[in-house]
Amino acid sequence: MADEPLVLGIETSCDETGVGIVRGHTLLADAIASSVDEHARFGGVVPEVASRAHLEAMVPTIQRALKEAGVAASDLDGIAVTAGPGLAGALLVGTSAAKAYAYALGKPLYGVNHLASHICVDQLEHGALPEPTMALLVSGGHSSLLLAPDITSDVRPLGSTIDDAAGEAFDKVARVLNLGFPGGPVIDRMAREGDPEAIAFPRGLTGSRDPKYDFSFSGLKTAVARWIEAKRAAGEEVPVADVSASFQEAVVDVLTRKAVRACKDHGVDHLMIGGGVAANSRLRAMAERRCEDAGITLRVPRPKLCTDNGAMVAALGAEMVARNRPHSAWELSADSSLPVTEPHVPAPGHEHRHGVPHSHHGHGHSHDHVHEVSKDNLYS
Ligand code: KG4
Ligand code: ZN
Repeated sequence: MADEPLVLGIETSCDETGVGIVRGHTLLADAIASSVDEHARFGGVVPEVASRAHLEAMVPTIQRALKEAGVAASDLDGIAVTAGPGLAGALLVGTSAAKAYAYALGKPLYGVNHLASHICVDQLEHGALPEPTMALLVSGGHSSLLLAPDITSDVRPLGSTIDDAAGEAFDKVARVLNLGFPGGPVIDRMAREGDPEAIAFPRGLTGSRDPKYDFSFSGLKTAVARWIEAKRAAGEEVPVADVSASFQEAVVDVLTRKAVRACKDHGVDHLMIGGGVAANSRLRAMAERRCEDAGITLRVPRPKLCTDNGAMVAALGAEMVARNRPHSAWELSADSSLPVTEPHVPAPGHEHRHGVPHSHHGHGHSHDHVHEVSKDNLYS
């Protein structure tokens, strides 16, 4: 609809320069420039290399997105940018660019949270997020279970990894198997030829006394590495497909089990899965089956929207505009450890936590009533 907010979003928290343009829940452009090939030989993202690549890619990627969307920069209702969490230098390139464009164009600036963006992107695929939303966020840097009564103002962590992130485990296991970087997509592919039950790898933090919603993947990674070492020491060939499938099964089993449990415990009848690891085919299949068995509706965006991109930032920015949230100040700074509980960074003086008075705005499609009802349900 033409009266929905038209927002450009800039994402530079890691190695992807992403620029997306959305109108409300409609994706108009999703331009990406990745420096992943420049990091591959180091087996992980090198922050300085990423920052420089963002700087070089920024203006051309913005121009490409505007062209793809067929809109003029002057028509935008706002510019959104990832303010954190992420690599400090990389974030700085994005926030500086966003400020420059917003200032030059006279548009409001919205510094938003990378994790909340990974959740909000699903509005581009499946429409308005239910409130509250239960989200399993699995990426190279994070693995969390989040309950979001309102993605623009209220995101609550239920649990997270106590050591490695799920994607990090994929990357480390891939390195031990000499499969290259990033590891997730290769392991996903290799696993298709393997037997997920060939090797019984450990399921971290699944004992009856373990924290219900936290994850641990470091022990699993070590178990896989030891298993491979033993094979090599015995002069035997490492069955890469079986190791990949069995490792992947262990990760996916724990992620889906805990996510479904969180939904049941909190009386939430749908689950959103986001972040790079949500592109994993086995995770999608197992989540689909387990959610169906539990009467839970699963929402997973298409793989391209799961990995880092600018559209997700634009999606959250558009929601900020639609709900008339305060914009950010020109002093907005990149915060490498921005807490997940802060979906955006409003100008100082604006209380952005609960109880914000939401005035109705031209773009308004306020869900405040629904929001209040669901919040009550949560606490009762
Ligand atoms: O969200 P993302 O693009 O960047 C971060 O914010 O971290 O996630 C990247 C991570 C990497 O660890 C990568 O190995 C993993 O997501 N990943 C996958 C798959 N595609 C990407 N992991 C498992 N299966 C995949 N198909
Ligand atoms: Zn991410």
